[in-house]
Amino acid sequence: MRLGILGFGEAGLRFAQDLSQAGLTDIVAYSRSGAKEAPDGPLHAQAAAAGAKLVKTPRALCKNTDVILALTPGKAALAAARGAQKHLRPEQIYVDMSSGAVKTMEQVAQMLEGKARFVDAAIMSPVPLNGIKGVVAASGADAEAFRALLEPYGMNVKVVGNRPGGASAMKLIRSVCMKGLSAVLLESLEAAERYGVLEATAADLAASFDERPFMQNMKRYVCGTAVHAERRVHEMADALALLDALGSSNRMSKATRGKLVDVAKMGLREKFNGREPDTIAAVLEAIVALKPA
Ligand SMILES: NC(=O)c1ccc[n+]([C@@H]2O[C@H](COP(=O)([O-])OP(=O)(O)OC[C@H]3O[C@@H](n4cnc5c(N)ncnc54)[C@H](OP(=O)(O)O)[C@@H]3O)[C@@H](O)[C@H]2O)c1
Repeated sequence: MRLGILGFGEAGLRFAQDLSQAGLTDIVAYSRSGAKEAPDGPLHAQAAAAGAKLVKTPRALCKNTDVILALTPGKAALAAARGAQKHLRPEQIYVDMSSGAVKTMEQVAQMLEGKARFVDAAIMSPVPLNGIKGVVAASGADAEAFRALLEPYGMNVKVVGNRPGGASAMKLIRSVCMKGLSAVLLESLEAAERYGVLEATAADLAASFDERPFMQNMKRYVCGTAVHAERRVHEMADALALLDALGSSNRMSKATRGKLVDVAKMGLREKFNGREPDTIAAVLEAIVALKPA
């Protein structure tokens, strides 16, 4: 397999390094700054050390490659695909790995229709930390073909569906939880610090999370909230009064209280006869059924 890397920054360089170490010998890369540099410049040296050869144009990148990994900033994804499109061949796989909006991935997919096979891919963890071992979610009709080509070199590709945009959507939806969790932890621990119980609170939180596998925790949080939301509204009111007295931030806790009020109004407690449902899906199906898209 001949690989092209379009956009050769932190991620492109590390992927080239890992893939060439895994035995992929035919790697070319393009970036605008690389194209401007003399052949004895530092970017060329970096590329060579990573097992890749810098080329001067998107055309040269497309010419002799089977798979192209686009690793530009998300806001450059459309421009990068536009620059490459007229040089692509229908059998080539163009994998857009940039972190961008779902809409952008849909637009890139549309732009490349008939010109190349398109895969939307989302890098789920920091590249300097995990390199190609980190999960790459992939979606689109050719996601499976991409996985089959890259997996032998150690890339950890997980196919998440047929829709272009699906992998990027999953990453953003996941961020709702991961970023929200970080924000809510910050808020809780700020109050703990102000009250002088930071160590004890952090240890208690850690013990609660560690008590069981996260899938079980998630079921508890989701299914428990479905039927006990109203009770928890009152507890959050007390928590907010405490944050107020401490002069501590309360934006996330206000949102939590609001969310619990919304859930209490959904009537899920009645629907499930006051008993926690057996599956997370049962709760989410009930919520979505109340307000179809
Ligand atoms: N690094 C990570 O840990 C990580 C993790 C998850 C997701 N990602 C995503 O992966 C993508 C790449 O990340 P990165 O960290 O490698 O970014 P980066 O270090 O900023 O590198 C981006 C590269 O794209 C090139 N570029 C920009 N516009 C271009 C264009 N129109 N055509 C061709 N090349 C272009 C840049 O060079 P020139 O400006 O010289 O062209 C540079 O080589 C981003 O979308 C990022 O969000 C990265």
